[in-house]
Amino acid sequence: MKSTIDNTVEFVKEKLKGAEAGHDWFHIERVWKLARKIAQTEDCNQEVVELSALLHDIADPKFHNGDETIAPKISREFLESQNVSEETIQKVLFVIENISFKNRSQAPENPPIELKIVQDADRIDAIGAIGIARTFNFGGFKNNLMYDPAVEPNLGMSKEEYKKSNGTTINHFYEKLLLLKNLMNTEEGKKIAEERHHYMLNFLDQFYKEWNVD
Ligand code: ADP
Ligand code: NI
Repeated sequence: MKSTIDNTVEFVKEKLKGAEAGHDWFHIERVWKLARKIAQTEDCNQEVVELSALLHDIADPKFHNGDETIAPKISREFLESQNVSEETIQKVLFVIENISFKNRSQAPENPPIELKIVQDADRIDAIGAIGIARTFNFGGFKNNLMYDPAVEPNLGMSKEEYKKSNGTTINHFYEKLLLLKNLMNTEEGKKIAEERHHYMLNFLDQFYKEWNVD
């Protein structure tokens, strides 16, 4: 018999057909695997971790006019159809409603371990070689410049500065990607992020070297 997890995989694959490559089923699959790996090192509810990882980008507000209510609604309907307990549904919805980097200023004070794990997994997939690939893919999808040599990026640049910088893909590293290492919640997450962070710094060095042909 098929498990709830199997059914969720099938549901999410179907929902994400045609999604931009950085937010497609393969992103979900990587986050799911990373979350399972981190979950092994923590005392947590495995079912909540897996369901949240699978459902966390089911209707990304970025692609739905900023509407943050669609994903929780679709997820609740699906989980109810699978006869998942109300307690589990509430825990999963809490994770997917609070996972976003964008909304980190409104983060809950004592986040449950399941949120910490899935958030780390999602952020790890935003850095390293995969992070670089996803970011350039998204920039291309938006028809953004890769880099503007007239703009000096700075770490943690504000939304306004970022907008003024024409939102180049390289600037997204400074607005977000290079900050993620220090936002890791779990020890295992920190370890994985450290290596990937290093790889991005090397990439940026090489990028500037190749851009500035002399
Ligand atoms: P969150 O939902 O945690 O706020 P996003 O979904 O906005 O994060 O970002 C996920 C990934 O999408 C980023 O790590 C990056 O790869 C890509 N991305 C988002 N915004 C941009 C951007 N302005 N330029 C390039 N890539 C972006
Ligand atoms: Ni994600």
